[in-house]
Amino acid sequence: MTELEKLRESCLNCRRCALHETRTNVVFGVGPEDARIMFIGEGPGENEDSQGEPFVGRAGRLLDDMLELIGLDRTKVYIANMVKCRPPRNRDPLPIEQEACGPWLERQIELINPRIIVCLGRIAAMHFIKPDFKITREHGQWFEKDGRRVMAIYHPAALLRDPHKRPETFDDLKRIQAEAEE
Ligand code: URA
Repeated sequence: MTELEKLRESCLNCRRCALHETRTNVVFGVGPEDARIMFIGEGPGENEDSQGEPFVGRAGRLLDDMLELIGLDRTKVYIANMVKCRPPRNRDPLPIEQEACGPWLERQIELINPRIIVCLGRIAAMHFIKPDFKITREHGQWFEKDGRRVMAIYHPAALLRDPHKRPETFDDLKRIQAEAEE
C-alpha cells in the first residue's frame, strides 16, 4: 500500500468534525499519485456524498469539459476538496470544519507534490492564496506558495449560474495549460 492509500484508509474513518455524522461517504480525492496539477474545490455535494468521488454532479461535468479544453482529464490531474465530507444543504464549510479537515489535505498535497495547484472558487483560494482573496479581481493570477504555482479560477458551479464568466475562465485555463506545458 502506498502512503497515499494509507492516508485514504485512515481518512475514511475520520471523525474530527461533526460532518462525519451526516455523511454517506468520505470524498477523499481522485487522480494519479504523481499528478503535476491538483484541482481543489470546496466540499462534496449530494452526488459526491453518495458516490464517494469529487465533482461527479453537474458542476463536475462542467469541470470535465474545462479539463478537456486544455488537453487534460481525470487520468492526468488530481481532484480534491477543502473538506472531505458534505456540509448539510451544501452550505460553505465552516472554518472549524476546514481546520479539522486541513491536515488530511496538507498531507495529500505533500505526498502528491503537485507543481501547480488550481483553487476552484473563493473558499480554496482564501485558504491557499490569502484570506482576503477576491475571486472577481484576482482569478487567473499566479501566486507562489511553498514552491508551487497557485491560481484560482471560478468554481464550475459559479460558471453554471453565470455563463458570462466563461470567457474569462477560458483565458485562465489557457494560462494553466501554458504553465503545465513548461
Ligand atoms: N463542488 C465542490 O466544490 N466539490 C465537489 O466535489 C463537488 C461540487
